[in-house]
Amino acid sequence: MSDYTISPMTTHGTGAEIRGVDLAKPIDAVLIKKLNAEFAKYHVLVFRDQKMSAAQFAAAGEIFGPLLSQHHKDVRATGHPEVFEIRNTEVAPGEYRISGGSWHTDHSNHPCPPRATALHTVTLPSYGGDTQFVNMHLAYDELTADMKRRIEGLKAIHAWESRYTPRKMRKLSEDSAKVLPPPGIHPLVRVHPENGGKFLYLNPVRIDGIIGMEDGPAMALVNELIAHATQQKYEYRHKWVMGDMVIWDDRSVMHQANGDYDMKEVRYLYRIMVQDNPALWAAEGEKTWHAASA
Ligand code: OGA
Ligand code: MN
Repeated sequence: MSDYTISPMTTHGTGAEIRGVDLAKPIDAVLIKKLNAEFAKYHVLVFRDQKMSAAQFAAAGEIFGPLLSQHHKDVRATGHPEVFEIRNTEVAPGEYRISGGSWHTDHSNHPCPPRATALHTVTLPSYGGDTQFVNMHLAYDELTADMKRRIEGLKAIHAWESRYTPRKMRKLSEDSAKVLPPPGIHPLVRVHPENGGKFLYLNPVRIDGIIGMEDGPAMALVNELIAHATQQKYEYRHKWVMGDMVIWDDRSVMHQANGDYDMKEVRYLYRIMVQDNPALWAAEGEKTWHAASA
């Protein structure tokens, strides 16, 4: 008997739903291996019918690797240092901040951005609040041969907040600002360490330029790639149901939140991030912007 059932969520192989696994219970090494293989194949896994405390959710995240601890203390959930929270918040009367409310991938300004991010429902609004994902392998594969040649070997500069971002980042606390790393330098085209496929690595809110290019043509190129990569044909759109845990690959998909529900309702999810292997990123990028421009 198989330990779980898995069903693809789209015809293009982005996202799969898993039933029959209780993540609140210990998961053995064989199942860990299988789930990681599914993750490398589908990029977004949707585990249904879960009921986890913050600590159990953190343990479930570890199926996919060690967790990143959250240094932005203001968004930490109480009770567990690795679990933080996504919640619609009123920042001024009638003005709401929706974290992740435009296409992005998490923490790409870091020298070693996370392998994955996962969310688990705590409270959902009565409608809306979907999360969209686009498959950056498919986006790469369907570029023209000429575009593939143009971007091969190019490296982008990922700042905390790009001068060209479509969405303002939240203001950093003094503590967070102190530990902010210098901008991350990452290739536009990367090879996925687990599935071997090439993918586009983009982030509209953070890419601030391309090494060795003038800003005008660099950003025109980046914007052309973003417009291409965010087409609906590459998308899986997740409609949240209570009990979902969704984990996505921060390398091979971009994602965005939707603030299209009644802001008087609460949308609250626990969130964890899984570390990636720093050696992989160091080999591909440059240590810092200064090293790159020297
Ligand atoms: C995130 C994020 C999307 C959402 O947690 O990094 O972008 O739909 N969340 O809440
Ligand atoms: Mn995000």
